[in-house]
Amino acid sequence: MIVSTGIDLIEICRIKKAVEKHTGFLDKILTAEEKKQYRERGGKAETVAGIFAAKEAASKVLGTGIGKVGWHDIVVLKNMEGVPSITLKNNALSVAKEKGIKHIHISITHTKELAMAYAIGENNSFKEGVSLDEKR
Ligand SMILES: CC(C)(COP(=O)(O)OP(=O)(O)OC[C@H]1O[C@@H](n2cnc3c(N)ncnc32)[C@H](O)[C@@H]1OP(=O)(O)O)[C@@H](O)C(=O)NCCC(=O)NCCS
Repeated sequence: MIVSTGIDLIEICRIKKAVEKHTGFLDKILTAEEKKQYRERGGKAETVAGIFAAKEAASKVLGTGIGKVGWHDIVVLKNMEGVPSITLKNNALSVAKEKGIKHIHISITHTKELAMAYAIGENNSFKEGVSLDEKR
């Protein structure tokens, strides 16, 4: 059953500027694994913007926003086909457990200017069992 949903929309140029101007922005937003994957996929601004939007959308599913739950507590990685998935850690995992959320589904899209993500929190474990725990 769906427990809650979250959505986020972001201007890619805002993220591009942050990446170019602020050393440390990428490290603040992305975990080492996400950064590695972002670089392997070409290091494009729209990719970081999509991940940024996915983390904000997931934080809305949790009802916390980013703050209590940190950027590195919500991990967004893609499989070989490019399909993204969310793994929660630390405070994000605790909040999800409190709310009975066992899996967050995520979808990301972008145009040249905008990136958007939509997240759904479900109280059933995902069929393959990999979701909110730290199996990665
Ligand atoms: C919840 C959060 C993700 C909203 O992000 P935002 O980009 O500021 O705002 P958005 O336009 O995406 O969303 C706003 C809407 O989200 C909804 N919202 C607000 N808090 C929410 C929460 N805790 N849970 C779910 N939805 C929430 C509201 O409907 C709000 O609309 P309103 O302002 O008209 O009331 C924000 O609190 C947050 O944590 N942002 C982190 C931003 C940040 O650290 N930026 C630094 C960049 S380096």
